[in-house]
Amino acid sequence: MSAGDKSSTPKGEVYSPSADVIAQANVRDPEALRKEASENLEAYWAKRAEELTWFKKWDKVLDDSNKPFFKWFVGGRTNIVANAIDRHVRTWRRNKLALIWESERGEVRTFSYHALAREVCKFSNVLKSMGVSKGDRVTIYMPRIPETVIAMLATAKIGAVHSVVYGGFSVEALHGRIEDSESKVIVTADGGYMNGKVIELKKIVDEALRRTAAPENVVVVRHTGKEVAMEAGRDYWYHDLMSMPLVRTSQRCETEEMDAEDPLYILYTSGTTGKPKAIVHTHGGYQVGVYATFKDVFDIKEEDRWWCTADPGWVTGHSYIVYAPLIAGATSVMYEGAPTFPFPDRWWAIVEKYGVSVMYTTPTAIRGLMRFGHAWPNRHDLSSLRLLGSVGEPINPEAWRWFYKNIGKEKCPIMDTWWQTETGMFMITPMPAMTLKPGSASRPYPGVEADVVGEDGKPVKPGEEGFLVLKKPWPAMLRTVYKDPDRYVKTYWSRYPGMYTAGDSARKDEDGYFWIIGRVDDVIKVSGYRLGTAELESAFVSHPSVAEAAVIGLPHEIKGVAIHAYVILKANATQTDTLVDELKAHIAHEVGPIAKPETIEFVQSLPKTRSGKIMRRVLKARALGMDEGDLTTLEE
Ligand code: PRX
Repeated sequence: MSAGDKSSTPKGEVYSPSADVIAQANVRDPEALRKEASENLEAYWAKRAEELTWFKKWDKVLDDSNKPFFKWFVGGRTNIVANAIDRHVRTWRRNKLALIWESERGEVRTFSYHALAREVCKFSNVLKSMGVSKGDRVTIYMPRIPETVIAMLATAKIGAVHSVVYGGFSVEALHGRIEDSESKVIVTADGGYMNGKVIELKKIVDEALRRTAAPENVVVVRHTGKEVAMEAGRDYWYHDLMSMPLVRTSQRCETEEMDAEDPLYILYTSGTTGKPKAIVHTHGGYQVGVYATFKDVFDIKEEDRWWCTADPGWVTGHSYIVYAPLIAGATSVMYEGAPTFPFPDRWWAIVEKYGVSVMYTTPTAIRGLMRFGHAWPNRHDLSSLRLLGSVGEPINPEAWRWFYKNIGKEKCPIMDTWWQTETGMFMITPMPAMTLKPGSASRPYPGVEADVVGEDGKPVKPGEEGFLVLKKPWPAMLRTVYKDPDRYVKTYWSRYPGMYTAGDSARKDEDGYFWIIGRVDDVIKVSGYRLGTAELESAFVSHPSVAEAAVIGLPHEIKGVAIHAYVILKANATQTDTLVDELKAHIAHEVGPIAKPETIEFVQSLPKTRSGKIMRRVLKARALGMDEGDLTTLEE
């Protein structure tokens, strides 16, 4: 089995929705919605935007006069927090639970919308007291705890821009992201729990800050209680700040009125160069896109309990842990730790305990849990579940079936949602009332025009592999690459005129169902986590023994794809097993434990083009024993 190793037979196994599922679906007729949106895209999105609150309504839905710098809801005034929180606390929902959080050690904390609103206001005031104002960046480097959500919302509320860095990243990755964002404040914690161990985040922050001009302040949440170094005048405890008289007396904070196109957040993601790029999302269009897709695809109802197992540090967490569920007024479950801690039924115990009704996770997690057998989920009452979801990498039909049978008990449709950091919202996705094919993300969301094209930009025939493109703008789309608009145009819009290139290869079958195969650029998806080859390779060469390195992704049974590295050592270094271990540890320290290579191979040379670019395609083909393709540019 490998990522993307799935049948693309158009007439294979299909699962039709039951009459019950259709009867209660928010979208009973997905075809009709698709037709409505394709006939008048702007009218469709305007209708959806009207479901939300605006300080001032937009003058124009879509401005495409300066492609590809599209603008949505032009002239509209809003703030995503006004929709995610403020409007709910004015209704009965003030008493509804917004968040139920469980730590890895079993501690539980809950927040009603009212309680969340109060914490957010307080922390907004803390940020203001540190001089953060509209447009300033705040880096959030946290474990999976409620304060992560509070910090994100508090930043957005005052019109500042959050840059969340996944807590699994390490020193060099964090350093690069802090430096590029020029953040005024960093919000972190003394640590977080994962698999019974403490990940010492503050220590990593301290080390990262030794490599860069420090931001003005670091706010530290006490979570593990482990001792940390606090630098006087720079570092402050979250709980001290939150109980400062100034803040305590001021549990109110006005939500800043923003232009629909003002930035909400930047989120770094890996690409083709060593320098990670920050994707820019805005308040107006993004809130409409994530809200509509969440409501339609995950079919959310007042009484649901939603659980997205992702980390807020990735786009899945931004869109579908924090913003969409809160805008929809839903109750979310959030869990801090590992799925198998202390036993492989932790997740199923959580589903049972909180009565989770809709659960959204990743193929890697499913494959990982599947390994322990169905006796673990069978120990729990999972009857509260009614809908399941998958994201981040292609789900192989075997994992799909296991999830469907053992978790969903053959009654919960699985929403395999294809999207990206850049798209902000689901782009190719089923809806509950649609027929499902295991391994296919099914069809474009209403208003989304996706296609599979060949090298020449023309659509390929059904069943043929090609490049996945998007042909129409959508409201939650990235607006640019932070501080680098040229890179935005070059990376996404220059390969085929007028089309957004996703960087994935795919097939479309005769029914118009999409089968995503995988990345075709220099991005590797390890366990669904997105890593860039260049960032990994530069981490390798920062080790004193390494002269040159190339990394590729190879199929892996659990992770989908795992990292295989080719390393050329410096003349004075010797190949030893200890060095292999040392290099693995070095990558984990610089980039993060997720980036740890599976295998390292010492080589004397690397295949390169005449201009000196490493031909990873050739390395991969050789490793897989496949045809090496066109080698005319190879200089060896
Ligand atoms: O390759 C696709 C894969 O994840 C990439 C986007 O990664 P990232 O920006 O980290 O966002 C992940 C969460 C939205 C895509 O280009 N991908 C995402 N969802 C799927 C997928 N591949 C196959 N099936 C999916 N459902």
